[in-house]
Amino acid sequence: MFDQLFPNVFRPMPKQVDLDTSGLSPDNIPQHIAIIMDGNGRWAKAQGKVRTFGHKAGAETLKTIVRAADSLGVKIITAYAFSTENWKRPVTEIHFIMELLSHYLTNEIQDFNDNNVQVRFMGSREGLPPVIREKMDHAIEVTRDNTGLILNLAINYGGRAEILHAVQSLARRVQDGNLAAEDIDTAVFEDSLYSRGLPDPDLLIRTGGDQRISNFLLWQIAYAEMWTTHVYWPDFTPAMLLEAIASFQKRERRFGGLVQK
Ligand code: IPE
Ligand code: IPE
Ligand code: MG
Repeated sequence: MFDQLFPNVFRPMPKQVDLDTSGLSPDNIPQHIAIIMDGNGRWAKAQGKVRTFGHKAGAETLKTIVRAADSLGVKIITAYAFSTENWKRPVTEIHFIMELLSHYLTNEIQDFNDNNVQVRFMGSREGLPPVIREKMDHAIEVTRDNTGLILNLAINYGGRAEILHAVQSLARRVQDGNLAAEDIDTAVFEDSLYSRGLPDPDLLIRTGGDQRISNFLLWQIAYAEMWTTHVYWPDFTPAMLLEAIASFQKRERRFGGLVQK
């Protein structure tokens, strides 16, 4: 079905993204942006096409946005590609998304590599087809030494599952006598999350018009600034990313404290 719907090629990452950055302050670019890439299905439906077209178009959009983010000085993008709850969808759609992922991880890694992007993943590997897991390992391996933007793809990811996974691994260490319960602090806990080693997102973007978290990064977004748009993910543009960052720069982040005036 996949090959019938689309030739399995994606547009290359644009070499350059032209943006008017004159309104941005270069010293306050969010280091880490998390994105809930929602609205692929509705985007396709609005054009009288099957939902899967939206997923293909959304995969293209991610490449453009990664390029734009990199050129704006963003260091990390964590993109929600498939949630632990998305398994509730019809098997044909799930199958298509897995196929798409498989093609993406095969054909696009070179492009990411050429753009110095380091690819990582977060989520549970259990439940993913072995071929996908192998391709994920390959993508990590091939891009490991890249020093540019970190693209952290959340696949089979759920915030609650991530927290439970961390709790179980810590409980096991306590049970084995390798960790004292009172030594479990924020740093130890964060070290057991899939996001280990990454700073928390500064900015959370959700496309598609809904104002909810949908089980994304429950721990890590404690103090993230949120920005949402009605635009469906396939229509999201570098200019909209710039708009989100400009909005971020106008916010006063207090982290529960008071800002010195
Ligand atoms: C987001 O788009 C991508 C995935 C969840 C895989 P959707 O597929 O949720 O599209 P809508 O929200 O139904 O339009
Ligand atoms: C969130 O979108 C998950 C991804 C973007 C991968 P959903 O479409 O699954 O979220 P809900 O169902 O609208 O909350
Ligand atoms: Mg959705």
